[in-house]
Amino acid sequence: MLHLLNHPLCSHIVTHLRDRTTNPVTFRTLTYQISVMLAIEATRQLPTRPSFIETPLESHEGRVLAQVLVIVPILRAGIGMVQPFTDLFPDVQVGYVGLERDHETAIARNYYSKLPSLEQKQVLLLDPMLATGGSAVQAIQLLKASGAQNCAIACVVAAPEGVKAVEAIDEQIDIYAAALDRELNDKKYILPGLGDFGDRLYGT
Ligand code: PRP
Ligand code: URA
Repeated sequence: MLHLLNHPLCSHIVTHLRDRTTNPVTFRTLTYQISVMLAIEATRQLPTRPSFIETPLESHEGRVLAQVLVIVPILRAGIGMVQPFTDLFPDVQVGYVGLERDHETAIARNYYSKLPSLEQKQVLLLDPMLATGGSAVQAIQLLKASGAQNCAIACVVAAPEGVKAVEAIDEQIDIYAAALDRELNDKKYILPGLGDFGDRLYGT
């Protein structure tokens, strides 16, 4: 199921990310900011458990996170989304999957992976662009083959083609996105999109 962030600040940030005149320093800051919003939204379902504490005034039964969160950024662009999660979640674990699209075919090739144990954990795949969905589909298959039972995806911009491709392999999966764009062009870039996220993030 696709969950779109619905907040004026989200539209503001995404519009500046799309703007071709935004420089890499600002682009990285905006990526941080939109990823904070995605981090909050995409973890709404994390389970909590009771925790008994003493406030300065009295005893109190509060609630704390009950399950370890594992984030898995897809290299390279997904790295730009990591810091908000490590800033916000004290016990977050980070795995990595390296995937790179071929410039001619747009088919992604897996060149690296390093994952913690995934069983009984909530796993969130981070990739700012969900275009054909080829990268996300490969990554989800890898995570499931490595023991993940609960996977979700957080992205900045999703294309309808990518959402369909992911839902074709797992119709239950939650996809959190800041924007759902119109379509892909003939080179499989998202329209209106924001260009090549990794290039804009790293100034390449
Ligand atoms: C981009 C992006 C996604 C992928 C999305 O990565 O960061 O991982 O394309 O496209 P898809 O949905 O059609 O698979 P790219 O392969 O350009 O690698 P990079 O992050 O190293 O730039
Ligand atoms: N990857 C990107 O970085 N941008 C797109 O539009 C599509 C794939």
